[in-house]
Amino acid sequence: MKLFLIIISLAVMFVLPSEATAARRSILVIPKDQMTLYWTAVKEGAELAGEKRQAEIIFRGPRSADDYAAQAEMIKDAMHHKVDAIVIAPNHTSQTSRMLHEAVVRGIKVVIIDSDMAFEERVSFVASDNRLAGNKAGTALMSLLGSKGTVLMARHKENNASTLAREAGFLDVLTKNPGVEIVDLGYLGTGSGNTYRRTLDALHANPGIDAVFVSSEINTLGMIKALREHVGRKRIKAIGFDATPEILQALRDGIIDGLIVQRPYRIGYLAVMAACDALDGKPVPKRITTETLLITNPDDDRVLTPSAAQ
Ligand code: BDR
Repeated sequence: MKLFLIIISLAVMFVLPSEATAARRSILVIPKDQMTLYWTAVKEGAELAGEKRQAEIIFRGPRSADDYAAQAEMIKDAMHHKVDAIVIAPNHTSQTSRMLHEAVVRGIKVVIIDSDMAFEERVSFVASDNRLAGNKAGTALMSLLGSKGTVLMARHKENNASTLAREAGFLDVLTKNPGVEIVDLGYLGTGSGNTYRRTLDALHANPGIDAVFVSSEINTLGMIKALREHVGRKRIKAIGFDATPEILQALRDGIIDGLIVQRPYRIGYLAVMAACDALDGKPVPKRITTETLLITNPDDDRVLTPSAAQ
């Protein structure tokens, strides 16, 4: 009997994989780009959830948010390596739809984060309510201006759902105020340099501009550079998006008046948790909305605190 028990114990030790050696799930997280700090917070939140759910997190993204083909290539590569799930922040509203469908056909779970896209087979969409975030920016600027004045609007990029929704939400509010004139610079793209140059030129060309609005981290950085350099008769009011140390310093220096900040850490965390729940056969909400906040105090501790636990 004793020999039998010894044989069984040895079998269990060497044949059945322990928790540590079981094939860990692998989840590919694809950000829009590798240039903005926003995605670093998404990555950290995703990694915390990966630790909690014993999933390997692979974080790979295009260098630039304009590189649509790169995201499609990463999805193809993920299929080849048979990842269990893909969490993607699409840098275009439809360019990766077909490739993501191929992934789902192969049994890979797909969670969309940050920016919406044409892809109904997703497990969930985890993001801010971007139109509401735009409303908040518009309301904040109207209260700074007393609902009248000339507002310069620098848009981010076409085919980028998150910022398109913010810009629409911002205009929802401004167009309700007849005393407001809008100078629309159009889409300035994913580089802060173009936003800097175009904003500075517009401020020089239009001395009547009272305020500026931009809808994402990279454009906020460009706007700040322009406002630091612009020397005009009056101080220009400004509302931007997202929080990095450089942007918070501009708030502290009085260069800008407010920011709409999101919960990127929580977005990364909840997206990986949703992917793991789907892999476990558990129900997952089709839409998970994370909060946005208007921040006017650079020391507001709600800004950079990882909020996965909240
Ligand atoms: C910025 O782009 C948006 O898609 C994100 O929400 C964030 O505002 C990061 O580059």
